[in-house]
Amino acid sequence: MSDRRRMTRPFHLAWFVNFAVDEWNGPFSAGGTPWNGEFYIDMAKAMERACFDYIMLEDTLMISDSYGGSMDAYLKYALMGPKGDPAPLAALLGNHTSKMGVVATFSTMAYPPYMLARLCATLDNICGGRFGWNIVTSGENLAAQNFGMDELPPRQDRYDMADEYVELCRQLWMSWEPGAIVKDHATDTYVDYTKVHPIHFKGRYYKCRGPLNCVPPKQGNPQRPAFVQAGGSPRGRQFAAQTADSIIAVASSVKAMKAYRDDIRERAEKFGRDPDEVKVFFIASPVLAETEASAKRRFEAYTASIEYQVKTLASVSSITDIDFSQFDLDEELPHLTTNGEQGSLDAFAQWGSGKTLRQLCKDRATRGLDGFVGTPDQVADRMGEVMDEVGGDGFLISSPFQKVSREYILQVCEGLVPALQRRGLTRTSYAEPTLRENLKAF
Ligand SMILES: Cc1cc2nc3c(=O)[nH]c(=O)nc-3n(C[C@H](O)[C@H](O)[C@H](O)COP(=O)(O)O)c2cc1C
Repeated sequence: MSDRRRMTRPFHLAWFVNFAVDEWNGPFSAGGTPWNGEFYIDMAKAMERACFDYIMLEDTLMISDSYGGSMDAYLKYALMGPKGDPAPLAALLGNHTSKMGVVATFSTMAYPPYMLARLCATLDNICGGRFGWNIVTSGENLAAQNFGMDELPPRQDRYDMADEYVELCRQLWMSWEPGAIVKDHATDTYVDYTKVHPIHFKGRYYKCRGPLNCVPPKQGNPQRPAFVQAGGSPRGRQFAAQTADSIIAVASSVKAMKAYRDDIRERAEKFGRDPDEVKVFFIASPVLAETEASAKRRFEAYTASIEYQVKTLASVSSITDIDFSQFDLDEELPHLTTNGEQGSLDAFAQWGSGKTLRQLCKDRATRGLDGFVGTPDQVADRMGEVMDEVGGDGFLISSPFQKVSREYILQVCEGLVPALQRRGLTRTSYAEPTLRENLKAF
């Protein structure tokens, strides 16, 4: 163990995962049929033992054909599908855990705000005040086409709509005053109707009468779930800095991580927020083994395969609506922009680095962070160093192998996290009952 002693506060941990197949054809396969949720229940329990802040359930709303104009790579490698709906899984995970946060992704493009507000309020009650909504506006034309549109609205409009959408939801969650449920046996009164109010919301994009017809979220003052967001573009960052309790971000270097967090904190302050209330989690994909040499061997073998390049490029194509099969692996990328996930594209492409597309694919496995391939002790030391340099606030674990296996969950939860805890870098218990409070605890 390192004798380095950390002077600053510990950092937070979350895990980014799809409700999708596990590493079904690997040596530690759970069978490739996680659809009854049991695989993810086991995962959430392991994460709760390791005191993660939250499990974050990703979602997108289409089967892509952006790579090579075909669904082939996506379905063959089960890349963006098949997947399950995150809402029922969130309910299951909330029911099988008691302390960790459960975050699910719902798109403002897909749900009418009233349905979303009701769904989140219900989930927050099922999760006992530990639910979070990952607010996305969707980034793929193919998803828009599943909801009656020909293409996505421009990013600026999507976020303008999201601002209004979130405001409407906030009002619905507050349409029940605290204490509205009186449960008075003497007068046979469950709810005091004078404490429940229509909202008569009329905005530029949405109109809603209210009140909510379910009980408000359990997390109070104000009543709402935790908000998670991942804005990458300037407009997306503005939305995230104004709204989120926790931001999940991808960066391609420690310098870029620090610049992103500094920018978010500055923006949050301009909105009159305490920047310490906006916790930024950066994607990290450690490759772990008992020795550094075997971790490196595994990383090299995995990232050298043709399948790895195709899976990586298909994933990036999908979230950017750019067909990466058209570019030469041994050349630099031309400068590209997208109406989809611009921030994710920028982090992947490392503009100006001079790297070939093949190198960018390799970097994506560890998100460009050096020192994340090794033993749990080595990676724990490196995570501490990176956090010291960035200033906070945490890491969002994401499997470097694109899918999750029981082996990887074990390596992280029973290898890496204990190494972090021994160094005082991450929490060893939950101090608070709700997700929002646990995020603010340090
Ligand atoms: C770690 C991370 C997780 C994300 N998860 C989702 C997701 O589950 N569903 C989705 O539609 N978009 C997701 N996004 C995309 C973001 O919502 C956002 O569109 C993206 O970061 C680009 O930022 P921009 O919209 O400001 O260009 C994610 C982005 C990041 C960095």
